[in-house]
Amino acid sequence: LKCWPGLIEAYRNYLPVSEATPVITLQEGNTPLIPAPTLAERIGKQVQVYLKYDGLNPTGSFKDRGMTMAISKAKEEGSKAVICASTGNTSASAAAYARRAGMKAFVLIPDGYVALGKLAQALLYGAEVLAIKGNFDRALNIVREMAEHYPITLVNSVNPYRLEGQKTAAFEVVDALGDAPDWLCIPVGNAGNISAYWMGFCQYHSVGKCSRLPQMMGFQAAGAAPLVSGHPVENPETLATAIRIGNPASWDIAVAAKDASKGSFSAVTDAEILDAYRLLASGEGIFCEPASAASVAGLLKVKDQVPEGIKIVCVLTGNGLKDPDTAITHSNNKFKAGIAPEMEAVAKVMGF
Ligand code: F0G
Repeated sequence: LKCWPGLIEAYRNYLPVSEATPVITLQEGNTPLIPAPTLAERIGKQVQVYLKYDGLNPTGSFKDRGMTMAISKAKEEGSKAVICASTGNTSASAAAYARRAGMKAFVLIPDGYVALGKLAQALLYGAEVLAIKGNFDRALNIVREMAEHYPITLVNSVNPYRLEGQKTAAFEVVDALGDAPDWLCIPVGNAGNISAYWMGFCQYHSVGKCSRLPQMMGFQAAGAAPLVSGHPVENPETLATAIRIGNPASWDIAVAAKDASKGSFSAVTDAEILDAYRLLASGEGIFCEPASAASVAGLLKVKDQVPEGIKIVCVLTGNGLKDPDTAITHSNNKFKAGIAPEMEAVAKVMGF
């Protein structure tokens, strides 16, 4: 039996690790690249669309890629505790990997704006969860300051090891397709992941693993779209709480990636996000969280600009199970309640 060893072992030659690095892994990475024929049909050209379903990582989001690196390096450096600000997924991932490493995890979250599944995870993994009366941007400022004043390692994506780990998603896309896609559509919040993907594609390109580089197409929620408007948003709002961010930490790197790749940033409304979210589930059989659906909402929004015949990868950053409330509230489907426990009654409701 050949087991996937986790992404640090799989891509060791491309990562800043040494023999001295204790590898803290939950065998993250190696997520599927799933063809999306329903989406391709919606675009209406001879395009191929694939979904990089990173919601299948151990804690259900792409953050695990960054966290295996950040926690392994923190452990190597002798750190006893980590801290992060989070809209939910980073906190779940940091909590899991910190506990795996025998470290303490402190997470700051915006009170009332974290999806239920993510909160459940952070609590059960045993993190110290601190809800602040402020948004993610405020929380990030606080933890950055904390890490300067106290002996605690910051594991937000401003920690360079996070992006190092996350760039492996680009490696996997190239390994699966045999080359880079033409377009990479990705949701953008704090702008770490788009930066990491670009690093990964560039690194693979520089060693001849791919012959071209994709155009980086970043999508933000309309109420939280600082990179689209060009200035920070004081009070970001979107139902896609994972990307409810007004002042992305990796702003400059993301803009550089967008420019170098001849890509673009666009905004998608919550209604467009929900349409894509439902279409992914009912049309492709893939349940992602709302923020993840922004990549697909964006692709559908700019479909007239899609060149004929290209290969497109949309990144699905998180698992739909993270946010059951949104699924139940915004499904167009209702379950039928109060049915008598008899076959005839069930058959009748089914229309037989
Ligand atoms: N999709 C999901 C599901 C996320 O959780 C995030 C970010 C993003 C997209 C955006 O990625 O920040 O690298 O541009 N979540 C962070 C968190 C902010 O705290 O979990 P980004």
